[in-house]
Amino acid sequence: MADLSTTFLGIKSPNPFWLASAPPTDREVNVTRAFRAGWGGVVWKTLGAEGPPIVNVNGPRYGAIHGADRRLLGFNNIELITDRPLQLNLQEIKAVKKAWPDRAVVVSLMVPCDEESWKAILKVVEETECDGVELNFGCPHGMSERGMGSAVGQVPEYIEMVARWCKQHTRMPVIVKLTPNITDIRYPARAAKQGGADAVSLINTVSSIVSIDLDRMAPNPTIDGKGSHGGYCGPAVKPIALNMVAEIARDPETRGLPISGIGGVTTWRDAAEFIALGCGTVQVCTAAMTYGFKVVEELKAGLSNWMDGKGYRSIEDFRGLAAPNVTDWRYLNLNYVTKAVIDQDLCIQCGRCHIACEDTSHQAIAATVDGRRMFVVKDEECVGCNLCIEVCPVEGCITMQPLAAGAIDPRTGLRVEPGYANWTTHPNNPMAQVAAE
Ligand SMILES: Cc1cc2nc3c(=O)[nH]c(=O)nc-3n(C[C@H](O)[C@H](O)[C@H](O)COP(=O)(O)O)c2cc1C
Ligand code: SF4
Ligand code: SF4
Repeated sequence: MADLSTTFLGIKSPNPFWLASAPPTDREVNVTRAFRAGWGGVVWKTLGAEGPPIVNVNGPRYGAIHGADRRLLGFNNIELITDRPLQLNLQEIKAVKKAWPDRAVVVSLMVPCDEESWKAILKVVEETECDGVELNFGCPHGMSERGMGSAVGQVPEYIEMVARWCKQHTRMPVIVKLTPNITDIRYPARAAKQGGADAVSLINTVSSIVSIDLDRMAPNPTIDGKGSHGGYCGPAVKPIALNMVAEIARDPETRGLPISGIGGVTTWRDAAEFIALGCGTVQVCTAAMTYGFKVVEELKAGLSNWMDGKGYRSIEDFRGLAAPNVTDWRYLNLNYVTKAVIDQDLCIQCGRCHIACEDTSHQAIAATVDGRRMFVVKDEECVGCNLCIEVCPVEGCITMQPLAAGAIDPRTGLRVEPGYANWTTHPNNPMAQVAAE
């Protein structure tokens, strides 16, 4: 059976599944129940500086996007960092780490952007004997209005400066949690590395207004007639997170920098995808808030079964294997020609592929054959875009089949060239012509 244990920055955990910093990790009783359920680690709900605790709204703080089956696809919140006293959190963190020495306990921090504030919090957190700290430069709402959270994470110079202070003032591993509310994630990641951070984690939530209540004419969640933007997370943000993780994993300046992957991890497959891109652990929030702590059982069993099937004995066996296959568009093989093929035994003749291709793609699916309702791809029109696969309700009914080298593409009348050729050398590329001249 596959070994799921991980060592991330020297922090050991029995599996790569950590609960992300959020309500599931905001107190001892929760974290204890999570560890009993089998979670490998937690990042404690973000602590702020000593002083009067943060004040949250006293009304709704969540919004969501649901699928047609009411499944939660996207989740939005306007919650701030912990609203419990610092000392209480510290006592509980210490107690939890003592009781669960084999689990990872990382503490998330967010204090004002001055060296003394960071020095002070690091000193007291270190006394809990937790395994490391995660710097929350990510929350896009509330705290950012006060110059913290994503207000720091959007300025690479601040990230570098704070990471450097933290490395100077603690012996603990320092993880920088990045905000996705930025144009190019490579810059904050490089800044974190430059400042000496041991790792990055990403993503925090995406700035969002999840919906407008058309009776109250105000954003959801609505507090006495008004709403404010929140942070979006859950399955909907996974593609954004995967792309950002991949950008960091393949950037020559940050390649090899340890990454803890966050964003929409709901199934073992999501986790495997983050790990395949190079993540050493994954963090989960929305799935735990939606399905409860026991979801970790499925995550562990699913990942372990899949690894057994593939012959991967440890997480390291497949970690990062997909990263080299993420490339720029210009390097994609333009000699690779595919056609859609419909399996008539699986087809339920709903016609969705035909409508989609007819109205918005290349009019390449016939709806009748010899006057009979039947859906068949016209190879002479098909550009291989795979829109039909995405709209077909029957999984596996339509597949993309590559044409063999040497075959004639009935759409272009051209022979499929063998081997690999990309845009950088294509005759239609003006830059390629300049280079040739
Ligand atoms: C209600 C709620 C509160 C959160 N609070 C924090 C926080 O205090 N600190 C932090 O770094 N991230 C916080 N997050 C962000 C999560 O840790 C995580 O980065 C994000 O939800 C993406 O993961 P997910 O798609 O698994 O939910 C919060 C998320 C939610 C939903
Ligand atoms: S792959 Fe694209 S062009 Fe070909 S049949 Fe499907 S939708 Fe039409
Ligand atoms: S969408 Fe799928 S099931 Fe529906 S007609 Fe097309 S191939 Fe058949």
